[in-house]
Amino acid sequence: MPLLIKNGEIITADTRYQADILIQDETITQIGLDLEMDDEDLEVIDATGKYIFPGFIDPHVHIYLPFMGTFARDTHTTGSQAALIGGTTTFIEMCCPNRNDDHLEAYNLWKSRAEGHSACDFTFHMGISKFDDTIEQQLKEIVEDGISSFKVFLSYKNFFGVEDGELYQVLTLAKKLGVIVTAHCENAELVSQLQQKLLSEGKTGPEYHEKSRPVQVEAEGTNRFATFVEMTGATGYIVHLSCEAALNRAMAAKSKGVPLYIESVIPHFLLDKTFAERADFEGAKYVMSPPLREKSNQKALWAALEQGFIDTVGTDHCPFDIEQKDMGRGDFTKIPNGIPAIEDRVNLLYTYGVSRGNLDIHRFVDAASTRAAKLFGLFPRKGTIAVGSDADLVIYDPQYRGTISVKTQTVNNNYNGFEGWEIDGKPETVTVRGQIAVKDGKFVGDPARGQFLKRKPSHF
Ligand code: URP
Ligand code: ZN
Ligand code: ZN
Ligand code: ZN
Repeated sequence: MPLLIKNGEIITADTRYQADILIQDETITQIGLDLEMDDEDLEVIDATGKYIFPGFIDPHVHIYLPFMGTFARDTHTTGSQAALIGGTTTFIEMCCPNRNDDHLEAYNLWKSRAEGHSACDFTFHMGISKFDDTIEQQLKEIVEDGISSFKVFLSYKNFFGVEDGELYQVLTLAKKLGVIVTAHCENAELVSQLQQKLLSEGKTGPEYHEKSRPVQVEAEGTNRFATFVEMTGATGYIVHLSCEAALNRAMAAKSKGVPLYIESVIPHFLLDKTFAERADFEGAKYVMSPPLREKSNQKALWAALEQGFIDTVGTDHCPFDIEQKDMGRGDFTKIPNGIPAIEDRVNLLYTYGVSRGNLDIHRFVDAASTRAAKLFGLFPRKGTIAVGSDADLVIYDPQYRGTISVKTQTVNNNYNGFEGWEIDGKPETVTVRGQIAVKDGKFVGDPARGQFLKRKPSHF
């Protein structure tokens, strides 16, 4: 059924204008003034007073992640519908085998969990937790299948984490294949030593999580990753950068011309370490890695985002419920790490960035959609509003005023870390390749509409 969106204000990473958009099948076929179409099946949406953004892309999510002895709570059904309600039409999930898992089996398992179960489009960063000849061969197959980004963890020793030698091998292979490597940058050995020290001193509560992974630990990981990227000639992408110390290391490499990109995630822009210090174990809800930081870091993150030094804003969505968090009572190293935000990322970034005067609206679109599309081989199919692009559109109501609450969320969890936070706007209608998925803020779409997005390497 063709769809005509009339009278909205189109806002992309670099343009802003009033026009109508015609969608036929899955793509945008016309953009112009006073568009009309003679077709009895035509559905018309009046978007007067609304913004029209390209579908947002979350470059960093975990759905049903096996981690710390349990699984993150969302399935692809709940996670993708929550994403869409929040304006995210594509997500890139971390496929995370641990060191003992067969990497190809893990990839196929992750893919099978998403295919036929996701309402939004999806792809994966292929996690690598070990490197040998078998895995190298498997990675080549995975790239052939349409994956053009890898993921490594420099933290989580003996589980997801790689050794330095393996990091070098992964980057060397990635360079050869034309694949970008994303990395969680923390020094695993320091984390492990500091955790043991704190526990031996009887410091067991969630407030000690940050002390076990202070900014120096992240700055070292960031610097090491940047150095390895430089030495191998690969292209790197730092995930969830949380603090000024790590930002300085990344910027030092970027300014030398090292091809390094930076993602920060919504919790680090808005929440600080006092949340993880809340009494009665409530702090556990706010345990993630890298940890929430001293508030002063947020100023540096917002400035770097506005200037475009921070390329993308993701979520690191990873929901563990209160009962799962409870596994770490008496030992903070056993609190499953993660804060969910897939549903609220766009509204929070719009509100505390654009609406409250901290972020240019085009940079907002760029950071939450366009730049991820460009870096990860999805542009211009995704990440913009243009004739020929997929009709993934967010009709956004900037007049909406409301608050975030666990009571109204779609994410499968029994708390929301942003409970009570005001939002100054929200998606009214969202389309996925031309089909309406969200109407009046409610999911009304096909729960299995989402497609695996095949991507090609060598776009660097
Ligand atoms: O705390 C976090 N970030 N949990 C998810 C795993 C990761 O490191 O991204
Ligand atoms: Zn299935
Ligand atoms: Zn991580
Ligand atoms: Zn993550």
